[in-house]
Amino acid sequence: MMKYAALLGAGVVGAGVAEMMQGNAAYLEKSVGEPVALKYILEPRDCSGQPWADKVVKDFSVIENDPEVSVVAECIGGVGVAYDFVRRALLAGKSAVTSNKQLIAEKGLELLSIAKEKGVFLLFEASVGGGIPLIRPLTNCLAANRIDAVAGIVNGTTNYILTQMIDCGQDFDAALKEAQRLGYAEADPSADVDGIDALRKICILADLCFGSNLPPEKVSAEGIRGVSLADVAFAEKLGYSVKLLACARRLEGERFTAFVAPMLVPRGNLLADVGGVMNAVVVTGNAVGDCLFYGAGAGRMPTASAVVADIIDAMRRGNGRKFIDWAPERPELWADPREVPFRWFVRYQNGCANAIVDQCLSDNGECAGITPPMTRGELEEKFNGTEILSAFRVKD
Ligand code: HSE
Repeated sequence: MMKYAALLGAGVVGAGVAEMMQGNAAYLEKSVGEPVALKYILEPRDCSGQPWADKVVKDFSVIENDPEVSVVAECIGGVGVAYDFVRRALLAGKSAVTSNKQLIAEKGLELLSIAKEKGVFLLFEASVGGGIPLIRPLTNCLAANRIDAVAGIVNGTTNYILTQMIDCGQDFDAALKEAQRLGYAEADPSADVDGIDALRKICILADLCFGSNLPPEKVSAEGIRGVSLADVAFAEKLGYSVKLLACARRLEGERFTAFVAPMLVPRGNLLADVGGVMNAVVVTGNAVGDCLFYGAGAGRMPTASAVVADIIDAMRRGNGRKFIDWAPERPELWADPREVPFRWFVRYQNGCANAIVDQCLSDNGECAGITPPMTRGELEEKFNGTEILSAFRVKD
Protein backbone atom coordinates (compact mmCIF):
# COMPACT_ATOMS: atom_id res chain seq x y z
CA MET A 1 0.00 0.00 0.00
CA MET A 2 1.26 3.48 -0.86
CA LYS A 3 2.66 5.49 2.07
CA TYR A 4 2.30 9.26 1.88
CA ALA A 5 4.32 12.18 3.16
CA ALA A 6 3.64 15.90 2.81
CA LEU A 7 6.26 18.57 2.30
CA LEU A 8 6.08 22.04 3.82
CA GLY A 9 8.09 24.56 1.80
CA ALA A 10 9.60 24.17 -1.66
CA GLY A 11 12.60 26.48 -1.32
CA VAL A 12 16.20 25.34 -1.82
CA VAL A 13 16.00 22.28 0.43
CA GLY A 14 12.28 21.55 -0.06
CA ALA A 15 12.65 21.45 -3.85
CA GLY A 16 15.55 19.03 -3.36
CA VAL A 17 13.32 16.82 -1.20
CA ALA A 18 10.59 16.81 -3.88
CA GLU A 19 13.14 15.98 -6.56
CA MET A 20 14.69 13.19 -4.52
CA MET A 21 11.36 11.63 -3.54
CA GLN A 22 10.51 11.37 -7.23
CA GLY A 23 13.94 10.54 -8.64
CA ASN A 24 14.86 7.95 -5.99
CA ALA A 25 11.37 6.44 -5.59
CA ALA A 26 12.65 2.92 -6.28
CA TYR A 27 15.26 3.18 -3.49
CA LEU A 28 12.69 4.59 -1.12
CA GLU A 29 10.32 1.71 -1.84
CA LYS A 30 13.09 -0.78 -1.22
CA SER A 31 13.97 0.85 2.10
CA VAL A 32 10.43 1.21 3.39
CA GLY A 33 9.08 -2.03 1.92
CA GLU A 34 6.17 -0.21 0.30
CA PRO A 35 5.91 2.55 -2.30
CA VAL A 36 6.34 6.06 -0.91
CA ALA A 37 5.21 9.35 -2.42
CA LEU A 38 4.66 12.98 -1.58
CA LYS A 39 0.94 13.66 -1.56
CA TYR A 40 1.06 17.41 -0.94
CA ILE A 41 3.51 20.27 -1.09
CA LEU A 42 2.54 23.32 0.91
CA GLU A 43 4.00 26.32 -0.89
CA PRO A 44 2.53 29.81 -1.15
CA ARG A 45 4.59 30.82 -4.20
CA ASP A 46 3.65 30.08 -7.79
CA CYS A 47 5.04 26.66 -8.70
CA SER A 48 3.62 26.24 -12.20
CA GLY A 49 6.22 24.62 -14.42
CA GLN A 50 7.60 22.47 -11.60
CA PRO A 51 7.25 18.69 -12.12
CA TRP A 52 5.42 18.49 -8.79
CA ALA A 53 3.09 21.47 -9.38
CA ASP A 54 0.00 19.20 -9.20
CA LYS A 55 0.73 18.46 -5.54
CA VAL A 56 0.80 22.06 -4.37
CA VAL A 57 -1.72 23.16 -1.73
CA LYS A 58 -1.98 26.50 0.04
CA ASP A 59 -3.82 25.45 3.19
CA PHE A 60 -2.07 23.39 5.88
CA SER A 61 -5.36 21.99 7.19
CA VAL A 62 -5.65 19.88 4.00
CA ILE A 63 -2.50 18.04 5.16
CA GLU A 64 -3.42 18.08 8.82
CA ASN A 65 -6.80 16.46 8.14
CA ASP A 66 -5.70 13.83 5.65
CA PRO A 67 -5.28 10.49 7.49
CA GLU A 68 -3.28 9.08 4.57
CA VAL A 69 -0.40 11.45 5.32
CA SER A 70 1.73 9.80 7.98
CA VAL A 71 4.83 12.04 7.80
CA VAL A 72 5.16 15.80 7.41
CA ALA A 73 8.56 17.15 6.28
CA GLU A 74 9.13 20.77 7.26
CA CYS A 75 11.54 22.80 5.11
CA ILE A 76 10.14 26.29 5.69
CA GLY A 77 12.66 27.48 8.28
CA GLY A 78 12.30 29.84 11.23
CA VAL A 79 9.99 29.41 14.19
CA GLY A 80 6.86 31.18 12.93
CA VAL A 81 4.56 29.06 10.81
CA ALA A 82 7.09 26.20 10.82
CA TYR A 83 6.59 25.83 14.56
CA ASP A 84 2.81 26.06 14.27
CA PHE A 85 2.63 23.47 11.48
CA VAL A 86 5.04 20.96 13.05
CA ARG A 87 3.20 21.22 16.36
CA ARG A 88 -0.15 20.70 14.67
CA ALA A 89 1.19 17.79 12.61
CA LEU A 90 2.43 16.04 15.77
CA LEU A 91 -0.81 16.74 17.62
CA ALA A 92 -2.67 15.25 14.64
CA GLY A 93 -0.68 12.03 15.18
CA LYS A 94 1.69 12.46 12.25
CA SER A 95 5.44 12.10 12.45
CA ALA A 96 7.42 15.20 11.56
CA VAL A 97 10.88 15.58 10.11
CA THR A 98 12.69 18.86 9.75
CA SER A 99 15.90 20.47 8.57
CA ASN A 100 15.15 23.50 10.75
CA LYS A 101 17.88 24.04 13.34
CA GLN A 102 16.26 27.13 14.81
CA LEU A 103 13.05 25.22 15.41
CA ILE A 104 14.80 22.33 17.16
CA ALA A 105 17.22 24.52 19.13
CA GLU A 106 14.42 26.76 20.42
CA LYS A 107 11.38 24.50 20.51
CA GLY A 108 12.84 20.99 20.43
CA LEU A 109 12.12 20.26 24.09
CA GLU A 110 8.43 21.04 23.71
CA LEU A 111 7.99 19.39 20.30
CA LEU A 112 9.80 16.22 21.34
CA SER A 113 7.56 15.92 24.35
CA ILE A 114 4.45 16.24 22.13
CA ALA A 115 5.89 13.60 19.78
CA LYS A 116 6.50 11.30 22.74
CA GLU A 117 3.00 11.81 24.09
CA LYS A 118 1.49 11.10 20.68
CA GLY A 119 3.73 8.11 19.94
CA VAL A 120 5.11 9.60 16.73
CA PHE A 121 8.56 10.62 15.53
CA LEU A 122 10.16 14.03 15.44
CA LEU A 123 13.39 13.57 13.46
CA PHE A 124 15.91 16.26 12.58
CA GLU A 125 18.99 14.64 11.07
CA ALA A 126 19.34 17.47 8.52
CA SER A 127 19.35 20.18 11.18
CA VAL A 128 23.06 19.76 11.99
CA GLY A 129 25.69 18.93 9.41
CA GLY A 130 23.30 18.89 6.41
CA GLY A 131 23.83 15.56 4.68
CA ILE A 132 26.27 14.15 7.25
CA PRO A 133 24.86 11.33 9.36
CA LEU A 134 25.40 12.78 12.83
CA ILE A 135 22.28 12.89 15.02
CA ARG A 136 21.46 9.24 14.48
CA PRO A 137 25.03 7.95 15.10
CA LEU A 138 25.17 10.14 18.19
CA THR A 139 21.91 8.84 19.62
CA ASN A 140 22.22 5.22 18.43
CA CYS A 141 25.73 4.03 17.62
CA LEU A 142 27.41 6.06 20.38
CA ALA A 143 24.58 5.59 22.89
CA ALA A 144 26.75 3.50 25.23
CA ASN A 145 29.29 6.33 25.70
CA ARG A 146 29.42 9.26 28.05
CA ILE A 147 30.00 12.00 25.50
CA ASP A 148 32.74 14.31 26.75
CA ALA A 149 33.02 16.78 23.88
CA VAL A 150 31.68 17.73 20.52
CA ALA A 151 33.48 20.25 18.38
CA GLY A 152 33.20 21.05 14.75
CA ILE A 153 32.71 23.13 11.69
CA VAL A 154 28.94 23.22 11.35
CA ASN A 155 28.39 26.21 9.08
CA GLY A 156 29.23 25.73 5.43
CA THR A 157 28.93 29.39 4.45
CA THR A 158 31.51 30.63 6.93
CA ASN A 159 33.84 27.73 6.23
CA TYR A 160 33.57 28.55 2.54
CA ILE A 161 34.37 32.22 3.20
CA LEU A 162 37.34 31.43 5.47
CA THR A 163 38.69 28.91 2.96
CA GLN A 164 38.50 31.51 0.19
CA MET A 165 40.34 33.99 2.43
CA ILE A 166 43.03 31.44 3.34
CA ASP A 167 43.54 29.81 -0.06
CA CYS A 168 42.91 32.70 -2.46
CA GLY A 169 43.26 35.86 -0.35
CA GLN A 170 39.69 36.65 -1.51
CA ASP A 171 37.89 39.28 0.51
CA PHE A 172 34.95 38.59 2.74
CA ASP A 173 32.19 40.22 0.63
CA ALA A 174 33.11 38.46 -2.61
CA ALA A 175 33.28 35.07 -0.89
CA LEU A 176 29.91 35.64 0.81
CA LYS A 177 28.24 36.54 -2.49
CA GLU A 178 29.50 33.32 -4.03
CA ALA A 179 28.25 31.26 -1.05
CA GLN A 180 24.81 32.86 -1.50
CA ARG A 181 24.82 32.12 -5.20
CA LEU A 182 25.60 28.47 -4.48
CA GLY A 183 22.60 28.24 -2.13
CA TYR A 184 24.59 27.66 1.08
CA ALA A 185 23.75 30.80 3.01
CA GLU A 186 20.67 31.43 5.14
CA ALA A 187 17.98 33.79 3.83
CA ASP A 188 19.59 36.38 6.09
CA PRO A 189 23.30 35.55 5.82
CA SER A 190 24.11 37.42 9.02
CA ALA A 191 22.86 34.25 10.78
CA ASP A 192 25.80 32.47 9.15
CA VAL A 193 28.40 35.20 9.39
CA ASP A 194 27.64 36.14 13.00
CA GLY A 195 27.68 32.54 14.21
CA ILE A 196 23.95 32.30 15.03
CA ASP A 197 23.36 29.32 12.74
CA ALA A 198 26.30 27.47 14.31
CA LEU A 199 25.06 28.41 17.77
CA ARG A 200 21.67 26.78 17.09
CA LYS A 201 23.44 23.65 15.88
CA ILE A 202 25.75 23.38 18.90
CA CYS A 203 22.73 23.78 21.19
CA ILE A 204 21.09 20.78 19.51
CA LEU A 205 24.29 18.74 19.82
CA ALA A 206 24.75 19.77 23.46
CA ASP A 207 21.11 18.88 24.23
CA LEU A 208 21.73 15.41 22.85
CA CYS A 209 25.23 14.92 24.30
CA PHE A 210 24.62 16.23 27.79
CA GLY A 211 20.94 15.37 28.12
CA SER A 212 19.42 18.68 29.24
CA ASN A 213 18.08 21.62 27.31
CA LEU A 214 20.58 24.34 26.44
CA PRO A 215 18.62 27.48 25.47
CA PRO A 216 20.31 29.32 22.57
CA GLU A 217 20.18 32.66 24.43
CA LYS A 218 22.59 31.23 26.99
CA VAL A 219 25.38 30.60 24.50
CA SER A 220 27.58 33.30 23.09
CA ALA A 221 28.38 33.35 19.41
CA GLU A 222 31.20 35.27 17.83
CA GLY A 223 31.12 35.18 14.05
CA ILE A 224 33.80 35.73 11.44
CA ARG A 225 33.39 39.45 10.72
CA GLY A 226 36.36 40.14 13.02
CA VAL A 227 38.69 37.75 11.18
CA SER A 228 40.99 39.71 8.91
CA LEU A 229 43.36 38.62 6.16
CA ALA A 230 46.17 39.65 8.55
CA ASP A 231 44.91 37.15 11.18
CA VAL A 232 44.66 34.41 8.59
CA ALA A 233 48.19 35.12 7.33
CA PHE A 234 49.76 35.22 10.83
CA ALA A 235 47.88 32.03 11.77
CA GLU A 236 49.20 30.25 8.67
CA LYS A 237 52.76 31.29 9.51
CA LEU A 238 52.34 29.98 13.05
CA GLY A 239 51.06 26.62 11.72
CA TYR A 240 47.33 27.05 12.23
CA SER A 241 44.14 27.48 10.20
CA VAL A 242 41.39 29.85 11.31
CA LYS A 243 38.04 28.02 11.53
CA LEU A 244 34.67 28.97 12.95
CA LEU A 245 34.16 26.23 15.53
CA ALA A 246 31.13 25.26 17.54
CA CYS A 247 32.21 23.54 20.73
CA ALA A 248 30.51 21.92 23.68
CA ARG A 249 32.62 20.28 26.31
CA ARG A 250 32.02 18.45 29.57
CA LEU A 251 34.04 19.94 32.43
CA GLU A 252 34.19 18.40 35.89
CA GLY A 253 31.25 16.15 36.82
CA GLU A 254 28.21 16.94 34.74
CA ARG A 255 29.06 20.61 34.21
CA PHE A 256 29.56 21.68 30.64
CA THR A 257 30.23 24.72 28.51
CA ALA A 258 29.49 25.62 24.90
CA PHE A 259 30.34 28.45 22.54
CA VAL A 260 30.81 29.42 18.91
CA ALA A 261 33.91 31.38 17.92
CA PRO A 262 36.67 31.61 15.34
CA MET A 263 39.51 29.44 16.62
CA LEU A 264 43.00 28.54 15.50
CA VAL A 265 43.20 24.88 14.63
CA PRO A 266 46.72 23.41 14.51
CA ARG A 267 47.78 21.85 11.24
CA GLY A 268 47.47 18.11 11.68
CA ASN A 269 44.23 18.40 13.67
CA LEU A 270 41.33 16.54 12.04
CA LEU A 271 39.47 19.81 11.50
CA ALA A 272 42.30 21.88 10.04
CA ASP A 273 41.94 20.73 6.43
CA VAL A 274 38.16 20.82 6.22
CA GLY A 275 37.70 23.26 3.37
CA GLY A 276 34.95 24.94 1.37
CA VAL A 277 31.36 24.23 2.29
CA MET A 278 32.27 20.95 3.98
CA ASN A 279 31.38 20.41 7.61
CA ALA A 280 33.13 18.14 10.09
CA VAL A 281 32.28 17.29 13.67
CA VAL A 282 34.47 15.42 16.13
CA VAL A 283 32.54 13.64 18.86
CA THR A 284 34.55 12.36 21.81
CA GLY A 285 33.06 9.47 23.78
CA ASN A 286 34.61 8.01 26.92
CA ALA A 287 34.81 4.54 25.33
CA VAL A 288 35.10 5.20 21.62
CA GLY A 289 37.50 8.18 21.76
CA ASP A 290 37.34 10.64 18.86
CA CYS A 291 34.95 10.00 15.95
CA LEU A 292 35.03 12.29 12.94
CA PHE A 293 31.89 12.95 10.93
CA TYR A 294 32.65 14.71 7.65
CA GLY A 295 30.64 15.69 4.59
CA ALA A 296 28.56 18.31 2.83
CA GLY A 297 26.99 20.46 5.53
CA ALA A 298 24.82 22.67 3.35
CA GLY A 299 23.24 22.76 -0.07
CA ARG A 300 20.10 21.49 -1.65
CA MET A 301 20.69 17.80 -2.33
CA PRO A 302 22.95 16.93 0.66
CA THR A 303 20.37 18.43 3.03
CA ALA A 304 17.51 16.78 1.12
CA SER A 305 19.35 13.47 1.50
CA ALA A 306 19.05 13.69 5.29
CA VAL A 307 15.42 14.90 5.22
CA VAL A 308 14.33 12.05 2.94
CA ALA A 309 16.24 9.53 5.07
CA ASP A 310 14.24 10.74 8.07
CA ILE A 311 11.00 10.30 6.11
CA ILE A 312 12.04 6.72 5.33
CA ASP A 313 13.00 6.12 8.95
CA ALA A 314 9.72 7.46 10.29
CA MET A 315 7.80 5.26 7.85
CA ARG A 316 9.60 2.02 8.47
CA ARG A 317 10.38 2.05 12.19
CA GLY A 318 6.78 1.44 13.18
CA ASN A 319 7.16 -0.36 16.49
CA GLY A 320 10.53 0.80 17.80
CA ARG A 321 11.13 3.45 20.42
CA LYS A 322 9.83 6.50 18.67
CA PHE A 323 11.59 9.27 20.41
CA ILE A 324 14.82 10.81 21.37
CA ASP A 325 14.56 13.49 23.96
CA TRP A 326 16.31 15.57 26.56
CA ALA A 327 15.39 16.94 29.96
CA PRO A 328 14.49 20.56 30.78
CA GLU A 329 17.33 23.01 31.32
CA ARG A 330 19.54 22.47 34.41
CA PRO A 331 21.15 25.91 34.88
CA GLU A 332 23.41 24.62 37.67
CA LEU A 333 25.32 22.54 35.10
CA TRP A 334 26.16 25.47 32.83
CA ALA A 335 29.70 26.90 32.90
CA ASP A 336 30.35 30.24 31.23
CA PRO A 337 33.13 29.76 28.61
CA ARG A 338 34.69 33.07 29.74
CA GLU A 339 35.70 31.25 32.95
CA VAL A 340 37.38 28.38 31.07
CA PRO A 341 41.10 28.80 30.30
CA PHE A 342 42.31 28.46 26.70
CA ARG A 343 45.48 29.26 24.84
CA TRP A 344 44.96 32.40 22.77
CA PHE A 345 46.18 33.63 19.42
CA VAL A 346 46.71 37.35 19.85
CA ARG A 347 47.52 39.96 17.21
CA TYR A 348 48.60 43.19 18.80
CA GLN A 349 50.35 46.48 18.17
CA ASN A 350 54.05 46.16 18.60
CA GLY A 351 54.62 46.75 22.27
CA CYS A 352 55.96 45.23 25.39
CA ALA A 353 53.68 42.17 25.32
CA ASN A 354 56.08 39.91 23.44
CA ALA A 355 57.10 38.16 26.66
CA ILE A 356 53.52 36.90 27.11
CA VAL A 357 53.35 34.93 23.87
CA ASP A 358 55.27 32.02 22.35
CA GLN A 359 56.52 32.02 18.74
CA CYS A 360 56.12 35.76 18.36
CA LEU A 361 56.00 36.97 14.75
CA SER A 362 56.01 40.57 13.66
CA ASP A 363 55.15 42.33 10.44
CA ASN A 364 54.47 46.02 9.67
CA GLY A 365 54.47 47.04 13.33
CA GLU A 366 52.04 44.30 14.29
CA CYS A 367 52.87 41.18 16.30
CA ALA A 368 51.13 37.87 16.76
CA GLY A 369 51.70 34.85 18.96
CA ILE A 370 50.11 32.20 21.11
CA THR A 371 49.66 32.57 24.87
CA PRO A 372 49.69 29.89 27.58
CA PRO A 373 46.22 28.84 28.83
CA MET A 374 44.26 31.64 30.49
CA THR A 375 40.74 33.06 30.63
CA ARG A 376 39.71 35.99 28.47
CA GLY A 377 39.78 38.24 31.55
CA GLU A 378 43.35 37.19 32.38
CA LEU A 379 44.35 37.83 28.78
CA GLU A 380 43.04 41.39 28.94
CA GLU A 381 44.84 41.98 32.23
CA LYS A 382 48.14 40.71 30.86
CA PHE A 383 47.86 42.87 27.75
CA ASN A 384 46.95 45.93 29.77
CA GLY A 385 48.57 48.85 27.97
CA THR A 386 49.04 47.02 24.66
CA GLU A 387 46.32 47.30 22.05
CA ILE A 388 44.88 43.88 21.15
CA LEU A 389 43.90 43.86 17.47
CA SER A 390 42.39 40.39 17.59
CA ALA A 391 42.27 37.47 19.96
CA PHE A 392 41.02 33.99 19.14
CA ARG A 393 41.07 30.79 21.17
CA VAL A 394 43.42 28.01 20.07
CA LYS A 395 42.03 24.49 19.69
CA ASP A 396 43.95 21.84 21.69
N1 HSE B 1 23.46 28.31 6.03
C1 HSE B 1 23.79 27.01 6.51
C2 HSE B 1 25.28 26.76 6.26
C3 HSE B 1 22.96 25.97 5.81
O1 HSE B 1 25.90 27.54 5.54
O2 HSE B 1 25.81 25.81 6.80
C4 HSE B 1 23.00 24.62 6.43
O3 HSE B 1 22.49 24.61 7.73
